[in-house]
Amino acid sequence: MPDLAVAWRSPERQRTGPAGNRSPHSKRPSGATRAKSGEPLSTEDWISRAWNPAQLRRLGRAFSDLAVAELCRGGGPVLAPDFLKRTRSLLRSARGGAERAPGWLRELCAASLHQSHPRAMAQQICAPVPLAALAESVVAALNQSIAVWEMSPAATLVDREVMGRFKKLLGYPDSAEGSLTPGGSFANLTALQAARAALAPEAWESGATGKVAILAGVQTHYSVARAAGIMGMGTACVFPLPLDAAFRTDAAAIPAVVRRARRAGYRRFILVATSGSTPCGSFDDLEAFARAAAALRRQRGTRVWLHVDAAHGGGMAFSPHLRRLLRGIEQADSIAFDPHKMMFMPLTAGAVLVRAGVRLRGAFEQNAPYLFSPVRREIPDVGPFTLACSQRFEALKVWLVWQAYGPRFFAALTEAVCAAADAAHDYCSRSRILEPVHRPQANIFCFRLRGKSSDGRHWAIKEALNASGQGYLSSTVLDGGRCFRMVAMNPRSRRQDVIAVLRSVERLAAERA
Ligand SMILES: Cc1ncc(COP(=O)(O)O)c(C=O)c1O
Repeated sequence: MPDLAVAWRSPERQRTGPAGNRSPHSKRPSGATRAKSGEPLSTEDWISRAWNPAQLRRLGRAFSDLAVAELCRGGGPVLAPDFLKRTRSLLRSARGGAERAPGWLRELCAASLHQSHPRAMAQQICAPVPLAALAESVVAALNQSIAVWEMSPAATLVDREVMGRFKKLLGYPDSAEGSLTPGGSFANLTALQAARAALAPEAWESGATGKVAILAGVQTHYSVARAAGIMGMGTACVFPLPLDAAFRTDAAAIPAVVRRARRAGYRRFILVATSGSTPCGSFDDLEAFARAAAALRRQRGTRVWLHVDAAHGGGMAFSPHLRRLLRGIEQADSIAFDPHKMMFMPLTAGAVLVRAGVRLRGAFEQNAPYLFSPVRREIPDVGPFTLACSQRFEALKVWLVWQAYGPRFFAALTEAVCAAADAAHDYCSRSRILEPVHRPQANIFCFRLRGKSSDGRHWAIKEALNASGQGYLSSTVLDGGRCFRMVAMNPRSRRQDVIAVLRSVERLAAERA
């Protein structure tokens, strides 16, 4: 690997060096040299090195072997206990050309958190569907940007096809509009921007906040309050709604909280319900939220928008058994939904949908004649209603897997991860050391040590488990105390994996008694 300080030759040296009188942009020699003559490489040399089909095929096979090993990982530690040392050593010692890259990547894979390990159960990052992961290099190779049709003629069609399927899945009409996003946070921000534009259209140009209040459960993902900050609404406009005994947002509290917001001068309201809360995977009663929104709309001079953050739980819609958790979602004005969570897509793949498509198309207003079409085309530019300009072709992997395996595949995967959380709940209900904090509604389950135990002890045991490589969990604060948090995101996690991780927690707790 050439040292950049050496590789870069000053313009003065370029003029007087072998490239002599050439323009600084043409065939500039660099610091790397041909092995035999010691001559610096020309641009042609660099190109024939980096675009060498025979070498690329070799590298491609080596990379895909590494990827398949990672995607189908079954044993070994979830995280190698010496990962830090190995990563630092790799960063210090990686030398040589592209032929060495598979070796570097092999070492980096060995030192990484193995997200596809059946005992990795910490966060809402999935074990990706292998077919989708393998398609990623094709997405990168095509490098289509979805913002503008002429940059992605075929890809935009695939993107719109996927969006059409999402609309149907979630019960939205054809007139709804949406886009894929880099995740749930972007989807929430986009939806809230559409909401604010609908409730306070003056805000876009004048910058006035529009005095719009957001009512959201206390477990709402932080990206909602962050969006309020970003949009200049101020995080003080977020009014928390309490939880019921099952850690769902208590929709019955909406009228009282609206009254409080009115006393603070708010007349326009965004209600945010969550389908699959981040801490414990609880699903709000969307029909109750829709009724509360309808009741508010009947009050004179009150404007209301209902947003459902289904970033986590949207994928439950595929399952005939689980889709009851989303009953009423079709009544929401907007939905955030992450295929990179319960559709098991590799990062990133999020989506935002707005039921009245014109509301999303009206959420942003920009004139960009260098990009957007001045005439109405059969296939629209997506960029006018998305935050991002350059947009990755995330729809390809979603479409590919859907096409190859069909929608029942997603149903089977979501049911499998929910069964893993149920297995954990069963075990903890009978354990003498652990106890459930709640009954899981989906694939996230929180549990704690029985009896009196400090937050610090829970944290230390979780850290010790993760350092041991025997399992990988997270933790959160629920019901006033720190607890362990298991997020089953790998459909290959079996009951025995769940029990093995829980037994490791019990052992560590006994050692620290
Ligand atoms: C309910 C919910 N909404 C939004 C998000 C944010 O999604 P992302 O991480 O894709 O930005 C998360 C992520 O954990 C989530 O659980």
